[in-house]
Amino acid sequence: KPRVLSGIQPTADSFHLGNYLGALKTWVDMQDEYDTLYFIPDMHAITVQHDPVALRARTTTALAQLLAIGVDPERSAIFAQSQVPEHAQLAWILMCLTGFGEASRMTQFKDKSAKQGTDHASVGLFTYPMLMSADILLYQAEYVPVGEDQRQHLELTRDLAQRFNTRFGAALTVPKAFITKESAKIYDLQDPTSKMSKSGPSPAGLINLLDDPKVSAKKIKSAVTDAEREIRYDPAAKPGVSNLLVINSVLSGRSIAELEQHFAGKGYGDLKVDTADVLTEFVVPLKAKVDNFLDDRAELERMLDIGAQRARAIASETLADVYDKIGFLQPK
Ligand code: TYM
Repeated sequence: KPRVLSGIQPTADSFHLGNYLGALKTWVDMQDEYDTLYFIPDMHAITVQHDPVALRARTTTALAQLLAIGVDPERSAIFAQSQVPEHAQLAWILMCLTGFGEASRMTQFKDKSAKQGTDHASVGLFTYPMLMSADILLYQAEYVPVGEDQRQHLELTRDLAQRFNTRFGAALTVPKAFITKESAKIYDLQDPTSKMSKSGPSPAGLINLLDDPKVSAKKIKSAVTDAEREIRYDPAAKPGVSNLLVINSVLSGRSIAELEQHFAGKGYGDLKVDTADVLTEFVVPLKAKVDNFLDDRAELERMLDIGAQRARAIASETLADVYDKIGFLQPK
């Protein structure tokens, strides 16, 4: 089975709808046909200021959410990044292969550091893409299911793998981004031209999976649309309506064409009520499952331990090969 790896940061108390539709749903779907490894990049979460108590809690809450949406610890290795030291070890080598200018061109760094002021942005935020490359390359992953915003990081990862292989001998698989076209970018409900994100312009534009379902339904019902009446998928001309159609389609399993037909002659209010219902049906049982898993955080930590052992078995092999090829002395 081809190997798949992906990660989601434990930087908030809840994953959001963009995370789920853009990436996590694909994680769940890929488990049948791929050898899947999923991890919680807690080391990435400290590239910006953080609270240690919150981070520890969010790491197990992240696992609870992954289990609740259907990531299956029998079929997938699930682990926390900091428990597999090889990530930091390979990251150093990749940093030494990356040009300063090349790293400076990463748009996510430019955006995030501009927000904080470049003087306050950490060096860790700058070298983040090389840590992310290490995450992927350690496992020889062929596919990496992510949303559109991670595409540039995947391109860098491919370049670094090729660079290493050319200079030092073939050791690393060159991975491909696995991006689900339609839901690759879920937009903010209040500003449907920018992506949904926890640091978006207004909380009303963001749907957190673990928020009160009534609050989320209200947010859907007050989503920004446009001055026309027609319910039609046209992301350029009708970003708000198209975003609602995508959200509805992926959650309900109905195609966009089916939805367009279903809503022919109806108003935006009908689309919103239906989408709010579909969302409610998804999040209510999800929240119950998450709460259930969170009743036993010690058990969640045990699961992460087991996941880390599975991950290390693979990661340590790659790292040993890389250390050898780069000219480090081998342990006797
Ligand atoms: P993160 O934690 O910000 O997001 C997790 C996943 O959610 C996707 N995503 C979205 N997809 C569609 N629409 C949106 N509005 C939206 N917002 C977020 C992201 O693309 C991502 O797939 N750098 C990564 C974490 C990471 C990683 C890795 C991923 C670290 N190492 C190795 C893959 C492989 C990140 O910050 O994702």
